[in-house]
Amino acid sequence: MKLKLKIWRQKNTEEKGYLVDYDIEDVSPDMSFLEMLDVLNNELIEKGEDPVAFDHDCREGICGSCSLFINGRAHGPDKLITTCQLHMRKFKDGDTIYIEPFRAKAFPVIKDLVIDRSAFDRIQHAGGYISVNTSGNTQDANSIPINKNDADMAFDAATCIGCAACVATCKNSSAMLFVGAKVSQYSLLPQGQIEATSRVINMVNQMDLEGFGNCSNTGACEVECPKGISLDNIARMNRELMKASFKK
Ligand code: SF4
Ligand code: FES
Repeated sequence: MKLKLKIWRQKNTEEKGYLVDYDIEDVSPDMSFLEMLDVLNNELIEKGEDPVAFDHDCREGICGSCSLFINGRAHGPDKLITTCQLHMRKFKDGDTIYIEPFRAKAFPVIKDLVIDRSAFDRIQHAGGYISVNTSGNTQDANSIPINKNDADMAFDAATCIGCAACVATCKNSSAMLFVGAKVSQYSLLPQGQIEATSRVINMVNQMDLEGFGNCSNTGACEVECPKGISLDNIARMNRELMKASFKK
């Protein structure tokens, strides 16, 4: 396949970015989207030009680092996959593909397609943990009975990979699906009850401090989430916050 790529290039956080046109040939339909960018970068390096900076790590849908806006959609045209799981067979010979970074005030562009998602780390640090007695008297987690439905819902929430597609897709740049998943993961399990009150308050406060917007109620986040994280997690986070504010 021959493709025309329009890629966002930006030297650093301070300088303005712009779209640059690249023509690429001999793209196999079996290549992943990131492999196609690897081919482009090899060509740029051979020509002595600056390769396009983009984030990636596991390349199997686990780490959440490969976050690209492709033709106006987070992680591209396919559903329930990350950018690294997108294949070029989803495009046609002669297509033009726009490739941009995830955009949100809380995620400044570091270079080209790489954004700073440390805001998510700071939200996690504010409450995304449990305290466990490690003195040698730790209770075996398997000895604590947990309702199957709760265990399943907690597991589903825990599949959030922190990719930030929900934020990039939301017209308010809201992080509520991400934070809802992280709060739910613990609030559904007995191990998460000890810090339940402080967790939800601290995580929501940190989310607001980082500059994320409020929920737009459009549900776009759920549609574009590669892990199918449900809006139910936002509702659960709101309930947890309400409960916590009465207890405080
Ligand atoms: S909720 Fe979904 S879209 Fe948002 S960070 Fe988690 S995995 Fe990514
Ligand atoms: S590179 Fe890890 S999810 Fe895509």
